[in-house]
Amino acid sequence: MEKVLEIRDLKVYFDLTEGTVKAVDGVSFDIRRGEILGLVGESGCGKSVTAQSILRILPKSARIVNGEIVFHRNGKTLDLTRLDPEGEEIRDIRGKDISMIFQEPMASFSPVYTVGAQMIEAILLHENVSKEEARKRVVEMLKKVKIPNAEKVVDMYPFELSGGMLQRCMIAMAMSLNPTLLLADEPTTALDVTIQAQILYLMKELQKEYHSSILLITHDMGVVAQMADRVAVMYLGNIVETAEVFELFKNPLHPYTQALLRSIPKIGIRKTRLETIKGMVPDPYNLPTGCRFHNRCEKFMKGLCDVKEPPEVEVKPGHKVKCFLYGGEKE
Ligand SMILES: Nc1ncnc2c1ncn2[C@@H]1O[C@H](COP(=O)(O)OP(=O)(O)OP(=O)(O)O)[C@@H](O)[C@H]1O
Ligand code: SF4
Ligand SMILES: [Mg+2]
Repeated sequence: MEKVLEIRDLKVYFDLTEGTVKAVDGVSFDIRRGEILGLVGESGCGKSVTAQSILRILPKSARIVNGEIVFHRNGKTLDLTRLDPEGEEIRDIRGKDISMIFQEPMASFSPVYTVGAQMIEAILLHENVSKEEARKRVVEMLKKVKIPNAEKVVDMYPFELSGGMLQRCMIAMAMSLNPTLLLADEPTTALDVTIQAQILYLMKELQKEYHSSILLITHDMGVVAQMADRVAVMYLGNIVETAEVFELFKNPLHPYTQALLRSIPKIGIRKTRLETIKGMVPDPYNLPTGCRFHNRCEKFMKGLCDVKEPPEVEVKPGHKVKCFLYGGEKE
């Protein structure tokens, strides 16, 4: 299947006075055309830093120390890690070829301009159309994301809209230039469950209509089950398992994936708390030796898992796992 993005052995570190945080440490995965790839893992495992690396919007203290991010654009390939983060090339890609939606819609909109003015501006920046045409397109997009009174909302300020409405506007803005790839970083986490379901449904509808690819970042396996075609599971800066969504839920291999799946609340069973995975997430300045999950793993093998790093093994076509239970212990 045609790929739109290939990430190879990406390493992104933060140099802080307390030490170096290896936020992303050898991550590789592909995103195919027209698919939704779910990127899941607990807080702090490096999901957002991975997405920020693609668009080159990393904080100043971060540095890409290794790897490639190959973007397929108009029949050519472009390594995004080589671009100047302030340069024209990446600015041209941002919003047009690759756009991003965030957990907090206020992060995408300035409070001092109307929603419509900001969406029109984004279109004019990338396309040679008149202001009237851009405005018409914005109203159409707002209707597509099921905003009632789109003709009125276009002239409203962000603070006049509810969180759910603003999230719809953000999706409309992100999709208005028909990007090849949409990076959605916890797009619905801040919303209540009913609105969350509506927004996810809407995203999937638009993705099908435009045949775009989505990297859907979430810590919620329920969202992954509902939305994704394939899943990459991340733990402490590594991808530990990748598979088609159905395969991953039916046959999870990595002990961490198994634990994440046990943490999904079952319908009809009221739990006051989610079942959490035992053990503490290690200190990011002091990553464990060997397998990074070893201090929390139920299948831990002493003398192996704490000594050597497990290699990634393709157990069956398309299903990869990084764990000694599935091979790789011999030199
Ligand atoms: N600006 C920053 N300065 C220093 N460290 C950072 C910065 N941003 C992220 N990190 C560190 O990088 C690691 C990965 O962070 P990241 O934000 O990618 O996690 P995440 O998987 O997106 O988590 P969450 O689910 O909470 O959003 C964490 O250890 C975090 O503390
Ligand atoms: S390599 Fe060892 S510690 Fe790591 S997940 Fe597999 S069994 Fe557990
Ligand atoms: Mg994040």
